[in-house]
Amino acid sequence: MLSFSNFTRQYYSDVLLLAENAFGANYLTENDLNNYLSNSHQHSRIALFNHDFAGFSFYRFVKSDDLDDYFSSDSVKVIKANFPNHELICIRQQTAVIEKFRNKGIAEQLVGIGVEDAKQKNAGIISIVWNSDGCMMKNVLLKHNFKVLAELKNYWYADSLTKKYDCAVCGKPPCCCNALLMGV
Ligand SMILES: CC(C)(COP(=O)(O)OP(=O)(O)OC[C@H]1O[C@@H](n2cnc3c(N)ncnc32)[C@H](O)[C@@H]1OP(=O)(O)O)[C@@H](O)C(=O)NCCC(=O)NCCS
Repeated sequence: MLSFSNFTRQYYSDVLLLAENAFGANYLTENDLNNYLSNSHQHSRIALFNHDFAGFSFYRFVKSDDLDDYFSSDSVKVIKANFPNHELICIRQQTAVIEKFRNKGIAEQLVGIGVEDAKQKNAGIISIVWNSDGCMMKNVLLKHNFKVLAELKNYWYADSLTKKYDCAVCGKPPCCCNALLMGV
C-alpha cells in the first residue's frame, strides 16, 4: 500500500542513496537536505510502499522577481513570458523512485501532491528535466498538463564542474546533457 509522509532526518541515507543512483554521485548532498528541513519555502515529500522508503520529491517556492537567483537570464525570460501574472513560482527540483517500485504511478502521485500545493498558492510551476528518450519524468509531467517551454543545451555543464558531481547519464563532469524547461 502506498502512502506519503513529510521528509525527516530519518530518511537522509535513503534519499542520498537513491539520489546518487538516480542523478549521479554528489548531485544531492547532506547540506542540501539540511536546507530542505530548515527552509520553509522548500518542500519535500517521501513515498512509502508498505512502509518501505520508495521515493522522494522536492520543490521550492520563489518569488518571480527572484528567479535570476536560480536561472540564466534566457530561462528567466521564458518563465516570465509564460507566467506573466504569477508572483510566485514553484520550482520542482528532484523526483526519484527506487527502481523496484517504478511503474506503479508513484512519481505521478508525488508530482500531483506538489501540483495541488502550488495551485493552492496560485503559483506557476516549472520543472527542468533530462531531454532524453529514457527520461520517464517528461511523461509524468505531461500527464499533469505540463508543456515544454524551452530546450536548454548543456544545462548542467557549469554546475557539474563547480559542484564536481558525476551525472547518472553522461558520467564525469562536465555534464553534457540537454534539458527541457517545462511548466504548467
Ligand atoms: C522518473 C521517475 C521518477 C518515474 O518514477 P515512477 O514512479 O516509475 O513513475 P510513474 O510510475 O508515475 O510513471 C512511469 C510509468 O509507469 C506507468 N504507470 C503508472 N502507473 C502504473 C501502474 N499502476 N501499473 C503499470 N504502469 C504504471 C506510467 O503510465 C508511466 O509510463 P508512461 O509514461 O510510458 O505512460 C523514475 O523513473 C526515476 O526515479 N528515474 C530516475 C530519476 C529521474 O530521472 N528523475 C527525473 C529527473 S528529470
